[in-house]
Amino acid sequence: MSAENYVVEMVDIEKNFATVKAVDHSFFNLKKGEIHSLIGENGAGKSTMMKMLYGLYQPDAGVIKINGEEMRDLTPGKAIEKGIGMVHQEFMLVNELTVLENVILGFEPKKGVTIDFDEARKKIQTYIDDYHMEIQPDKRINQISVGEAQRVEIIKTLYRGANVLIMDEPTAVLTPQECVKFFEILQELRKDGKSIIFISHKLNEVMEISDRVSVMRAGKYITTVDKKDTNPTDLAKLMVGRDVNLHIKSGNAVKPGEVVLKVDNLWTSGEKEISKIRGISFEVRAGETVGIAGVDGNGQSELIEAITGLRKVEKGTVTLSGKDITNFAPKKAREAGLSHIPEERNVRGLNRSMSIEDNLVALKFDLEPFTKHYTRNKKEVRKFAEDLIEKFDIRPKKADVITQSLSGGNAQKIVIAREVDAGGDLLIAAQPTRGVDIGAIESIRTTLENVKKDGKAILLVSADLDEVMDMSDRIVVMYEGKITGILNAKDATKEEVGLYMLGQAEQDRKES
Ligand SMILES: Nc1ncnc2c1ncn2[C@@H]1O[C@H](COP(=O)(O)OP(=O)(O)O)[C@@H](O)[C@H]1O
Ligand SMILES: [Mg+2]
Repeated sequence: MSAENYVVEMVDIEKNFATVKAVDHSFFNLKKGEIHSLIGENGAGKSTMMKMLYGLYQPDAGVIKINGEEMRDLTPGKAIEKGIGMVHQEFMLVNELTVLENVILGFEPKKGVTIDFDEARKKIQTYIDDYHMEIQPDKRINQISVGEAQRVEIIKTLYRGANVLIMDEPTAVLTPQECVKFFEILQELRKDGKSIIFISHKLNEVMEISDRVSVMRAGKYITTVDKKDTNPTDLAKLMVGRDVNLHIKSGNAVKPGEVVLKVDNLWTSGEKEISKIRGISFEVRAGETVGIAGVDGNGQSELIEAITGLRKVEKGTVTLSGKDITNFAPKKAREAGLSHIPEERNVRGLNRSMSIEDNLVALKFDLEPFTKHYTRNKKEVRKFAEDLIEKFDIRPKKADVITQSLSGGNAQKIVIAREVDAGGDLLIAAQPTRGVDIGAIESIRTTLENVKKDGKAILLVSADLDEVMDMSDRIVVMYEGKITGILNAKDATKEEVGLYMLGQAEQDRKES
């Protein structure tokens, strides 16, 4: 294919933010009618690269061509004129306006001096029909689901005449069912001759949808490969720069032992109506990982808060190793053997202004040998910290570094190291790998596996369904504060779990 046939070419691009080389001699090109994935770890420069194509940033060096024409001083206005559309990581819709109003905002068709709403509605309906999208044009944005808002963003770009669609991590906010739907839309768009740039770091999705894949690492262009010539393991290696084991799965449960956690008919208040806990019962045994699956906001956070003493239990009991810990304060629950990797690691898990060692020793800084005769034994603290830093592969390997400067993955490893070291019978891991790179995910999952092999009980909550399926022995699915199903992870399929996540109760399914 000659160069003239590329709809987009980005050649030897550079972009610096102060001292950060966000994009460093990088390349990207796009053929008409292809789905081209751009992958890389957090901070690799993917969004920056594409924001330059959309005219939001100016490159410091390099050439951008659209349909063979070299672009200078590109702005979003000009990019849209040239047929480029972008669906951002954070949606840019106006909550108080309707879907229809959002789509035409800034590009209103006019009849004389008034907006021609009929014309707009007709045009939007053709997209809805062509791409089989479920959209309600007269609903306000704050009344529709995240998946629908994303479809509105897509229609907005089409309405403005986009031939090239840049989708920045579009699946991060979708349920499995919405993902399937979304991929169907992408395929229809491709069939129509649209060219699509799909940014992601989820390798199974990339393998499912792409024609070609380009990889960036630390701002640099690494390579472009045809999907048919690659596989997830190779892609992971290209992304991270070393071998990565993507298949850390729950080994056969170490013959589950005694019941460690017993939750019986639990009721609590909720952040929202649908997240109130309404009569939940389940158990986690020693040597077993139980995963909680569910669409975010269906009571998972409330459940963990209730168990760990952060939210009042209104009815029901929580028992840990035979001891009733219902409504124990967090500190007392901890003393009873509960370790907790909290969902909001920066709020509850870490003190960002303290050093790595202070965070690691936080649970026992006042005990011997770390404090003796009311004075801190710095040598002991340092030794303890360096030990954990080594064992849990925390980087940088310097105990006195302030945690503020650490990557998400390394900050999370500190929390995990401290909680695992505490040695409780039960480890609650809430979103342990959220926002963490695949290299660190490998290390965190290995740690969780080892804790289980040690005979501890693990309760895992994750918005990442693949993670729940890979790491659990049993899966508890929550919907609107209730349990809709408890499945054996070995036999469960993603589709099945997905149905329970949408509220299909076990009862209904058996009857049908
Ligand atoms: N507006 C900005 N100001 C300063 N630094 C930025 C800005 N945008 C991105 N960066 C930095 O540039 C690098 C690449 O970021 P980004 O393109 O967002 O990566 P990705 O999308 O691959 O996760 C990161 O180190 C990020 O912190
Ligand atoms: Mg990004």
